[in-house]
Amino acid sequence: MPKLALLGGTPVRTRPFARWPVFDDREKEALVEVLESGSWGGYNPVVRRFEAAFAAFHNVPFAASASNGTVTLEGALLAAGIKPGDEVIVPPISFIATATAVLRAGAVPVFADIGRDYNFDPLRVAEALTPRSRAMIPVHFAGRPADMDNLSAIARGYNLAVIEDAAHAHGATWNNRSAGSFGHLASFSFQQSKNLTAGEGGILIGSNEELIENARSIFNQGRRTGGAWYEHVRLGTNQRLTAWQAAVLLTQLERLPGQLEIRARNAARLNHLLKSLEFVELPPSDARVTRHSYYLYMIRLKPEKLPGVSKDAFLAALAAEGISGAGSYPRPLYEHKVFEQYPFVRMSCPEAEAMCRESFWVSHEVMLASPPDLDDFARALEKIATSAGELAEYSKQDRAVR
Ligand SMILES: Cc1ncc(COP(=O)(O)O)c(C=O)c1O
Repeated sequence: MPKLALLGGTPVRTRPFARWPVFDDREKEALVEVLESGSWGGYNPVVRRFEAAFAAFHNVPFAASASNGTVTLEGALLAAGIKPGDEVIVPPISFIATATAVLRAGAVPVFADIGRDYNFDPLRVAEALTPRSRAMIPVHFAGRPADMDNLSAIARGYNLAVIEDAAHAHGATWNNRSAGSFGHLASFSFQQSKNLTAGEGGILIGSNEELIENARSIFNQGRRTGGAWYEHVRLGTNQRLTAWQAAVLLTQLERLPGQLEIRARNAARLNHLLKSLEFVELPPSDARVTRHSYYLYMIRLKPEKLPGVSKDAFLAALAAEGISGAGSYPRPLYEHKVFEQYPFVRMSCPEAEAMCRESFWVSHEVMLASPPDLDDFARALEKIATSAGELAEYSKQDRAVR
C-alpha cells in the first residue's frame, strides 16, 4: 500500500494544474486600447459593448454592470423594491454575499434547505413562505442550474421577485435556456476565481428594462440614462465597472464557449473515472441540466465507506498528493457570527449541514486540465481511500490537537 504523502510518502503529482486566468496578447491589446483612449472609467463605450455582448450571450436584452457580484446582488434587491422587514428566501449553501445582501437591504434572510444537487430544494422553499415573503435568490451552485421550473412556479404563485445568483453559472443552461434568463434579475460575478474574470467585476442581466435601469441608476449615483451629470433621481452610489475591466471581460467572453466545452468534457471523464469509487457520491444527474458550467466539480464522501476520516483530513491528504484547488464550506451560512447580530429565519437544513460535513469541490482550473492530469486526480482519491485507516488515525490526532 503506497504511503500517503501527508504521512511522508511520495505525492501522486508535483506539477501544477492549469494556470488561471488564461490570457494572451489579446487582453494586452485591449488594455492598451483603453489606455490610449484616455477614457478609463465607466463611460468608455467598451463598458456598454461588454454589457450588450454578455446579455446577448445569455439571450436576454438588458444588462447593467457594476464593480463586483456582491453589489449587484444588493442593487438587485433595491431595484426590485425589497424593503426593510421583507423576507427573502436564500439557500444556506453559498458565498456569504447571497445572504448578507439581504441584510444590507434591511430585509430578513430566510434559509431554506438544499437538495442532493446542492441547489434549493423547491419543497423546502415552499415551506419557508410566509405573508412577508417578497423574493427568493436561487443560487446556481457550482455552475449547475437550480430547478427553475419549480422555483419559478412558486415565485409566480406567491408574487415573489426572483433574483438569480448566477455567480458560478456563466453560460450554464437549464432546459437549453440560459441560467440568468429566468428571474426578474440575475447577478454574475467576475471576481478572480470565476469562470469569466477581470479580477473583480459584476453584472445584472434581465428582460425587464425598468428593473435594469433602476439598477444602473443605483450603481451610478442615482443618475438616469440620458439625464444630466448633476441630476440624481434616486438614492445611488458609485459602483461603476471600469473600462479596464470591460475590455478584459470582452476578450475573456470570447474564450468562454471553448472553456465551457473543455470543462464539460473533463467533467464527463471525471464522472466516468470516479463512478467506480465506492466511497464517492456524485450529484444526481438531471436531464434538465443541459449545460453545467463547472465552476466547481462537486464530490461527496460517503462517511460509512471512510469510517473515522474527517473531510478536513481527506482534503489535507489530497493537497499533499499534489491536487490543488480542492475546497469546501466549513459551515452553513446561518452559522456565521454575523447572523448573531441580525434577525434571520432558519428552516431545518439537514442537507446543508451534511454537505458541509461530507462534500468538497475541485475548482474549475482543474477542470481545464488535460486528461492525464485528471487521471492523477482520480489516482490520488483512490490512494487516499486505500489508506483510510491511517487517515482515520490522523483525523483523530488532528481533532485532538484542535
Ligand atoms: C454565489 C456567489 N454569490 C456572490 C458572490 C460575490 O461576488 P463578488 O466576489 O464579485 O463580490 C460570489 C463570489 O465571490 C459567489 O460565489
